[in-house]
Amino acid sequence: MKVFESHSTTDTENFAAEFAKNLRGGEVLLLGGDLGAGKTAFVRGLVRGLGGDSNEVSSPTFALMNRYEAKIPVNHFDLYRLSGEDEVYDLGFDEIFRGGREVCAVEWFSVAGEEFWPDYPCIRITLLGQGEERTITVED
Ligand SMILES: Nc1ncnc2c1ncn2[C@@H]1O[C@H](COP(=O)(O)OP(=O)(O)OP(=O)(O)O)[C@@H](O)[C@H]1O
Ligand SMILES: [Mg+2]
Repeated sequence: MKVFESHSTTDTENFAAEFAKNLRGGEVLLLGGDLGAGKTAFVRGLVRGLGGDSNEVSSPTFALMNRYEAKIPVNHFDLYRLSGEDEVYDLGFDEIFRGGREVCAVEWFSVAGEEFWPDYPCIRITLLGQGEERTITVED
């Protein structure tokens, strides 16, 4: 487990950009933390770290999924508006995972239930804190 103390949005984005350099493709990033914790901010830094255009990153709350071209393409999900494992299957997560060549970053992954995720090579990234402070934990 790795722990990072972030003091600003920029810190979080920079940390995510550094973290991105360890990715090889095929990772599923489970982004934990409340509304406004910084999950989307983390993905913004991640996309920059992979050489993509971070300005393209926006919350997929309504779209459910955004895809960003980068050295490794990033599929950015937000399951907030779904209501269970069946709807996540219907969204086509399996096909989008594409046998593991790309990166998937998933906000509100808990909507799919805990049993959905062990089938995938997951890394859990959790953001917790108040004001501008966030403790970010990374667990393989
Ligand atoms: N240290 C920090 N790290 C990340 N974001 C921070 C930090 N401090 C303040 N913020 C602010 O918190 C907000 C985080 O918003 P963001 O959309 O990334 O959250 P989210 O976890 O994706 O929320 P949601 O569950 O609604 O999708 C932004 O306005 C950001 O500027
Ligand atoms: Mg978000």
